[in-house]
Amino acid sequence: MTKTKTIKINLDKNSYDIYIGENLTSEIPSIISPFMKRNKIFIICDESLGSIILPEIKNSFIDAGFEIFVSFVQTGENSKSFESLEFTISELLDNGIERNDTIIALGGGVIGDLAGFISSIIYRGINFIQVPTTLLAQVDSSVGGKTAINVKQGKNLVGSFYQPKTVITDVSFLSSLSEREIKCGLSEIVKYGIIGDRDFFNWLKENIDNLAKLDQDCLIYAIEKSCSMKANIVQKDEKESGDRALLNFGHTFGHALEKHFTKNGVLMHGEAVAIGMVYATKFSGNIGALKKDECDEIINLISDIGLPISINDIKGEITKEEILNLMMYDKKRANQRNTLILLNKIGEAFINNNVSDKEIIDFFNMENIQ
Ligand SMILES: NC(=O)c1ccc[n+]([C@@H]2O[C@H](COP(=O)([O-])OP(=O)(O)OC[C@H]3O[C@@H](n4cnc5c(N)ncnc54)[C@H](O)[C@@H]3O)[C@@H](O)[C@H]2O)c1
Repeated sequence: MTKTKTIKINLDKNSYDIYIGENLTSEIPSIISPFMKRNKIFIICDESLGSIILPEIKNSFIDAGFEIFVSFVQTGENSKSFESLEFTISELLDNGIERNDTIIALGGGVIGDLAGFISSIIYRGINFIQVPTTLLAQVDSSVGGKTAINVKQGKNLVGSFYQPKTVITDVSFLSSLSEREIKCGLSEIVKYGIIGDRDFFNWLKENIDNLAKLDQDCLIYAIEKSCSMKANIVQKDEKESGDRALLNFGHTFGHALEKHFTKNGVLMHGEAVAIGMVYATKFSGNIGALKKDECDEIINLISDIGLPISINDIKGEITKEEILNLMMYDKKRANQRNTLILLNKIGEAFINNNVSDKEIIDFFNMENIQ
């Protein structure tokens, strides 16, 4: 395996390795063999990958003597639903899945979240492996064991913590992604620099164009750095009772916007997070926690990537009351107070779990959100 990096997530019995490299397809069967109890694999696959990534992966399994069943899931956030959950579980059961079998998630964060949840509940939990195919999933959703579906009240409100046996991240898969998807992944990568590592933030400022052009060495470095930072946080707080919430920087505002705009594809997860990060940055500036030049540095980097930095940058409308209403379903909200992840400086985030609704509305007024 040329250039392959390995990151270990240390979680006692749930520890696992993340493999990061290029052209790993032929290696996948040997990486996952140690976890297999019989030679049948169930791949839960984004339907859009049926002709571009799946065939090669299927062939490598067949060459290695594995039997394969593929369950296709419709592309898009709407598949993180009870309907898809039920349909996919029925399909797996109808096709003979057993307790000792293995599920592979092949796709972006939507597939990883759905397949992970299915793996955690079918037969009360079976082997699960992540093969993420979007940049966003490679740097974020495939690592850390959060699984979820959405319900009408909000995003990710039903799910489980369920760690994969391993994660195999192949940057060669990213060449078929749209520019928009790449930017969404860069949004989550920038988040790691902002919340925890000033040097990495500076490196990103220097290398953002190389990343956007999919320079493989830069990608492997940025994915390794992002996954290592996530690993460090998850190892200390697997079930999010403390510092893991720092990873939600930009997500309190972001999830509310994503929920409102997701139906017609106006806003993707990484774009919603980008706007959310800008709002959390400005909020930090307004309360005097973050210096203005650092606020500008963050907003400039997000804007240089070509991500939206305000709801005025997107098509569609939402009022401040609608955003606040959607924020009520944030998992971190408690005792009618909102939790925001804010910044003292670039590389140092903190959790404020005592933000009133009035403070949020005042902030939106300053942002000229009607
Ligand atoms: N579990 C977690 O910790 C966690 C963290 C962050 C985000 N998430 C979740 O992840 C989801 C967003 O993930 P996403 O941005 O990967 O979305 P996604 O899974 O919808 O993928 C985005 C698009 O890329 C396409 N695609 C996937 N791989 C491709 C490839 N290699 N080439 C071409 N097209 C490809 C998909 O068909 C889809 O259209 C959200 O639901 C979010 O809530 C979860």
